[in-house]
Amino acid sequence: MLSALKDAPPGHLALGAVACFILYQVYIYLTVGASRRKFAADHGCQPAPAYPHREPIFGIDLALKLARYGKSKTFLEQARNRFLAYGNTYSLKVMGKNAITTCEPENIKATLATKFQDFNLSNVRKAAFQPLFGKGVFTNDGPEWEHSRTMLRPNFVRSQVADLDMIEKHVQNLIKEVPTDGSTIDLQDLFFDLTLDTATEFLFGESAHSLGSKSTEENERFSDLFTYCTTMIGDWSRIGIFFGIPDQRYHRFAAGIHKFADRYVEKALAHHRAQKSGMITCENSPNRYIFLDELVKKTNDPIELRSEALNILLAGRDTTASLLACLWNVLSKRPDVWSKLRAEVDSLGGKKPSFEELKDMKYLRYCINEALRLYPVVPSNGRVAIRDTFLPVGGGKDRKSPIFLKKGTLVSYSVFSMHRREDIYGPDAAEYKPERWEKLRPGWEFLPFNGGPRICLGQQLALTEASYTTVRLMQHFRDVESRDSHPWTELLTVTCASNYGAKVALKP
Ligand code: HEM
Repeated sequence: MLSALKDAPPGHLALGAVACFILYQVYIYLTVGASRRKFAADHGCQPAPAYPHREPIFGIDLALKLARYGKSKTFLEQARNRFLAYGNTYSLKVMGKNAITTCEPENIKATLATKFQDFNLSNVRKAAFQPLFGKGVFTNDGPEWEHSRTMLRPNFVRSQVADLDMIEKHVQNLIKEVPTDGSTIDLQDLFFDLTLDTATEFLFGESAHSLGSKSTEENERFSDLFTYCTTMIGDWSRIGIFFGIPDQRYHRFAAGIHKFADRYVEKALAHHRAQKSGMITCENSPNRYIFLDELVKKTNDPIELRSEALNILLAGRDTTASLLACLWNVLSKRPDVWSKLRAEVDSLGGKKPSFEELKDMKYLRYCINEALRLYPVVPSNGRVAIRDTFLPVGGGKDRKSPIFLKKGTLVSYSVFSMHRREDIYGPDAAEYKPERWEKLRPGWEFLPFNGGPRICLGQQLALTEASYTTVRLMQHFRDVESRDSHPWTELLTVTCASNYGAKVALKP
């Protein structure tokens, strides 16, 4: 048989291959295809409108456009324009794969919550994140993810996330970096250092001390290593090869990040061993919460410990910094909002706020919600269907019918576009208007922290840190002046910050 194939002319072989392929397709159409058509009919599914690809096999035309939009910092705005043009849910091709994209709350809810079991994270996310972040809560699926989440959840109880003294120490370091002579400072850079310092202290018990330090040629700051790597990973996971693959520098920096984390993992393991052998007792160990010290009680695998810690660092650092940067960017440009917030901050009489007082600051909460609505830190996201399933709306002429999803279909969703929908937020949806939160009680229409079983674990921690930092800065500096004339522009890494930062002058 093999020798007959070897002797066959190449033309015959090619014809044979084509015939086999066609037969296989017919077989699929009659078997799996038939049960899929029945499934779709049983659920009343209708096709979603399709993106008008010029190259409909791989969708290269759109991929090239996305790469261009990424470079011109209009990726999010263009996604919104496409929803306006083709509907709130439409189908497309992503690197040859079937995909659905949506900004419909009902469909997002199905993907993340009601049909949670039908979806996994995409392989692109895993491929992009795992070399640096390993297998952890942010990159795992199924039982592995459940294990990560169960292990981590107890670390986010209220007593752990309300360590305002720790935040205060780092906010004071930030304040020292702000010039008082009216010269311009980009608060965004400082916020990225602040959240790295607080997150490393929370995780490892020791801060990376980024605030107040500068990278030199021999001594690269942890903050700069981390930012470089997350920027590269963000580009890679969004548009893959069109943004290039990680370079030598990325690999060198990733090794540096691993080395940094491993030092603390070893320390936590040694501490745990000493506790178990009775060399140190709870009474004589420091009375301070350290995330890794808690985690070693659940696992002593150093790679698992490093991965979970880096996953939390990833989830917690850029996100809170981006929120603070976008918030201060808009506050500095809106004297009306600033003066209302100033009145609320002044009602504290200059005292450091307690956790409860922060929670009672309504207008501050409105300002933060409104920043998260217009500049969501995780503006788009996605999942992949791991079995045949359907989304509840978007199909058929009226776009109200369910849509069938074949196993393997990608579902991407744009929180950015949903948060700017005029039919949800009104004709002034594009305007920064904290007052709208006096009456707004959105459900799945407002999704900065995700929803369903994978909802953000650090929401309370992030809101506390962003609120506390804002209040303390406003107590220290009476006035703010924007030093940036651009409209808000996206800066996409693994999160979304502000391309022109938060350039301000602050006056004591
Ligand atoms: C403004 C700040 C933050 C925002 C907007 C935010 C948003 C999000 C979003 C959208 C997700 C879902 C990602 C996905 O499933 O694809 C997520 C997950 C997560 N976040 Fe946050 N986050 C913030 C801060 C934090 C902080 C400070 C921490 C911890 C220190 C944290 C820990 C996590 C963890 C562990 C997950 C993974 C949950 C899981 O998959 O089970 N986040 N966050």
